[in-house]
Amino acid sequence: MSRNKKVLDLKKRMEKIHDGGGAQAVEKQKAMGKLTARERIIALLDKETFQEYDIFVKHDNTDFGMQDKELPGDGVIIGTGSILGQPVAIFAQDFTVAGGSLGFMHARKITKIMDYALNMKIPLIGINDSGGARIQEGVNALAGYGEIFFRNTLSSGVIPQISVILGPCAGGAVYSPALTDFVFVVDKISKMFITGPEVIKTVLGEDISAEALGGARVHAETSGNAHFFANSEEECFHQIRRLISMLPPANNKGAEKIEPAQPLRKYNIKKIVPDDPSQPYDVRDVIRALADNSDFMEVMEMFAANAVIGFGRVNGETVGFVCNQPLVLAGVLDCDSSDKIARFIRFCDSFNIPIITLEDLPGYLPGIDQEHAGVIRHGAKILYAYSESTVPKITIIMRKAYGGGYIAMGSRHLRSDFVFAWPQAEIAVMGAEGAANIIFKKEIQEAEDPVKMRQIKIDEYREKFANPYVAASKGYVDAVISPEDTRKFIERALHVSATKDVKRPMKKHGIPPF
Ligand code: HXC
Repeated sequence: MSRNKKVLDLKKRMEKIHDGGGAQAVEKQKAMGKLTARERIIALLDKETFQEYDIFVKHDNTDFGMQDKELPGDGVIIGTGSILGQPVAIFAQDFTVAGGSLGFMHARKITKIMDYALNMKIPLIGINDSGGARIQEGVNALAGYGEIFFRNTLSSGVIPQISVILGPCAGGAVYSPALTDFVFVVDKISKMFITGPEVIKTVLGEDISAEALGGARVHAETSGNAHFFANSEEECFHQIRRLISMLPPANNKGAEKIEPAQPLRKYNIKKIVPDDPSQPYDVRDVIRALADNSDFMEVMEMFAANAVIGFGRVNGETVGFVCNQPLVLAGVLDCDSSDKIARFIRFCDSFNIPIITLEDLPGYLPGIDQEHAGVIRHGAKILYAYSESTVPKITIIMRKAYGGGYIAMGSRHLRSDFVFAWPQAEIAVMGAEGAANIIFKKEIQEAEDPVKMRQIKIDEYREKFANPYVAASKGYVDAVISPEDTRKFIERALHVSATKDVKRPMKKHGIPPF
């Protein structure tokens, strides 16, 4: 064969593989409102940057008639490319080929690109669309999953790992996304569950739709397995590109610094937070009043909304915001918000992203439900995460900082570097009303006018303790600042902590209250 013919032959071979599972399977994929694996990669990456590897890999299974089955690319596409100029590694399962099922060679391709990502210190993006372990391959398919999980764990805290669920992700397959840092789901398209509707019907005799069991909303709102929810694949890819632009490529580098910008004028910090501590407000407006361009990328927006976490920039540098949300349950901490906050702190700490804590909470949520759900175990995760983290940490106490909430939300005692309080901050063991009821119980009961006496005692307690000055007099608060100076104080604190170098005692690893 001449050289030209060989080149033509190569092109033909590649085109055949590019067709995936064939016209009929592609049509079925489209009918479900889904893009193909190849279209997804092209849509997500910068134009003409995708470089594919292992296109000619074939499975070698001969059981159950598989020897006659050609599975282009073995049902998965792997390669590298870039997002906003930043290199990334990527794989996308191709549902049109044997339902994107994971056989031995399919898994080998995925683990190969995972190894590249880890060696090159670049983010890994995995697009999941698969019927799970390839049933015909038995234990070889299971071995493949195990190899993926091991690498997910190895890469954790070294490179950012992003999972995109764009179809079914069932059985043990869900555990790779669960081990990664950020899970993206798309309404009506994503389905994640350990045991599917058929198994539930057989075992439990219950009829439940896949959507109700593990659709996108379920994981974004209820289970907390998903971090970003989108209405379309296109919107999802836009979210991933935005997130990548905020993150460092690996734990040995910082995130890209961009041109500093001021927050938008419409977010006036003085007007956002009411003086009355019982009045709610949206803490996201405070974030927007502090972040460059008022640009805030919220993480887990729909889950445990009593806490707000996410990325923004201050003076062009990526920071992580960790906040109570007075708009929901007065911003209390509970099991879910503790998990949400603790995991985010650990992500920021692993990837050298300074943490800014905006605090306004009445404490941990009381009640039998929370106690029995393990609020002690879950709440401890926040204490652990703040204490072990060594990135620059800046805490702003805006209003309430009561009890365990005061300690947990980035207090000096857990080694925040800078703690600033606004003049209206109330730092106390508990709210003045509750405190007066307990410590002045007798006086109130015995008073001629108990209502009046109660109010006197509440005012007395508030006057003495519900302010920032007792904490400031002990040095627990570094400075009491006007709300409108907050960004200035954060900028200065970030500036001086750019070279922060703090070590914790050497150990194999700690034992966080998982
Ligand atoms: C082999 C599979 C497959 C699988 C789908 N296919 N899943 N082949 N192994 N796991 C094939 C189908 O045979 C079919 O092939 C093609 O993919 C498309 O599948 P359909 O069923 O036609 O598609 P659809 O109707 O959209 O249903 C999708 C589905 C269903 C809901 C995912 O296919 C399904 O329930 N699959 C099995 C899911 C499952 O139980 N997986 C194992 C989980 S256990 P043809 O040739 O007809 O086009 C597991 C353990 C991992 O994963 C443990 C790790 C620790």
